[in-house]
Amino acid sequence: MKFLILNGPNLNLLGSREPGIYGANTYEGLCRRLESFAAAHGSAAACVQSNHEGAIIDAIHAAQGVYDAIVMNPGAFTHYSYAILDALKAVDVPCIEVHISNVHKREEFRHKSVTAAACVGQICGLGLYGYEAAMGYFLAQRGNPPAQT
Ligand code: DQA
Repeated sequence: MKFLILNGPNLNLLGSREPGIYGANTYEGLCRRLESFAAAHGSAAACVQSNHEGAIIDAIHAAQGVYDAIVMNPGAFTHYSYAILDALKAVDVPCIEVHISNVHKREEFRHKSVTAAACVGQICGLGLYGYEAAMGYFLAQRGNPPAQT
C-alpha cells in the first residue's frame, strides 16, 4: 500500500514541543519509524507536514490516484477547519485521523473534531503508536495484516 502521512501545524516541533504531552521523539524520528513500518509490510509511506491550511488541502487533493490511504493528524485544524473536512470529502482516498494525545482529557475546545466526520475513524491518546495502528487497520483491510509483536 502507499500511505500519505499528513501532519498539520506545530507537529514539526515534536520532541521539543510540550514533551510532557507529545513525548520526546522528533518529527523526523516519527517519519523514519513510519517509513520502516510501511516497508516491513511491503508498503511505502510518504510524510508531509505543513503549518498552512492550504498546503494541507493541496496535499489531500494531490493524494487522489496516488495514495491508497491517508493517516492524518491535522493538529489544531482538527477543531475548526471545515475546509480540510471538505477536502477529505472531495477525494476518494480513505483517511484515519490520529491524535498523539488524548484530546478528551484536555481543554474543552479539543474535544470536538470537525474533520473526523470525513474519516474512517479516529485514534487518540496512543502516542506515536496511533499512526501505526491506523496503518495496520488499512493493511488488515487489504488482507495484509501487520505482524504480531
Ligand atoms: C493533536 C491535538 C490537537 O488538539 C493539537 O492542537 C495538536 C496535536 C495531537 O496530536 O494530540 O497540535 O492533534
